[in-house]
Amino acid sequence: MSQTIDARDAAHDVPLPHENAFFAPLQKPAHVGPDWLEPKQTEYTSEDDAVWDILFERQANILPGRAIDQFLHGLERLNLHRGGVPRFEEINPELEKLTGWTVVPVPMLIPDHVFFHHLANRRFPAGNFIRKRENLDYIQEPDVFHDVFGHVPLLTDPTFARYMEAYGRAGEKAMRFNRLKALGALYWYTVEFGLMNTPDGMRIYGAGVVSSAEESVFALEGKSPNRIHLNVDRVMRTDYLISDLQASYFVIDSFEELFNATEKRAFDTIYETLNPGFQYAPTAVLETDRVYNRGTQEYALRGGRASGATPV
Ligand SMILES: [Fe+2]
Repeated sequence: MSQTIDARDAAHDVPLPHENAFFAPLQKPAHVGPDWLEPKQTEYTSEDDAVWDILFERQANILPGRAIDQFLHGLERLNLHRGGVPRFEEINPELEKLTGWTVVPVPMLIPDHVFFHHLANRRFPAGNFIRKRENLDYIQEPDVFHDVFGHVPLLTDPTFARYMEAYGRAGEKAMRFNRLKALGALYWYTVEFGLMNTPDGMRIYGAGVVSSAEESVFALEGKSPNRIHLNVDRVMRTDYLISDLQASYFVIDSFEELFNATEKRAFDTIYETLNPGFQYAPTAVLETDRVYNRGTQEYALRGGRASGATPV
């Protein structure tokens, strides 16, 4: 018994960040330990389960022909449509068998160094709550639908799974160089809002896109946004929009391309040449960009979500 607990503690030992690293000061709730993991998943109510089902059905109608095959296969494989919010203990055995990843519940946004530590150990932290029926489309913090529906299916893909683990390991270095925003932009434009150029046409794979009814359509079919081939150095210098539809989406050919472009890149040299803050606006198109579509930016120019602009 005590051996099991010791082994668990060692696996969840979170290294402290570098002494000069800056990170957002988040107040840790008293009931979680240094790894910020909830002792157990929330007991969701029937209303919560109904919200999951509504969101699931809506995306299930939108995503075929829009999301990449790997995402749709992952949804099937993990059987995320059992009815209601999935129990992690039901998903994890299959996920772990496929790629060694597991999903773990956390109470809220967690500190960067803790997030990186979990990713580096193939654990994906997921919100332990779900949005309300009155707010189906807008959430301030990632909830279990965004985290599990959006992120977890692709963790069944071996190459994407390796990318996510490598990202977790890369976090420590970004903190040492105090360039977390740059690494965050890479996550944003790949893991959250990435597009893929497939033999069947342009598809979405980012969790922020595939979990949003509006952005699933806008990212692919909108006239406003730019669609530009991913260049890691460029993306790490590009600002992004946190609570609105993106002004630019970055496109990869495959997860192999994404993995090779990051794993084989010496980030030290990027960090050494980066100024703090971002060099390029979210709407920017550079001469050196490989552009698929140059957007009209009509949506952003009309003021975006804050002005109630139509997402065209
Ligand atoms: Fe996310």
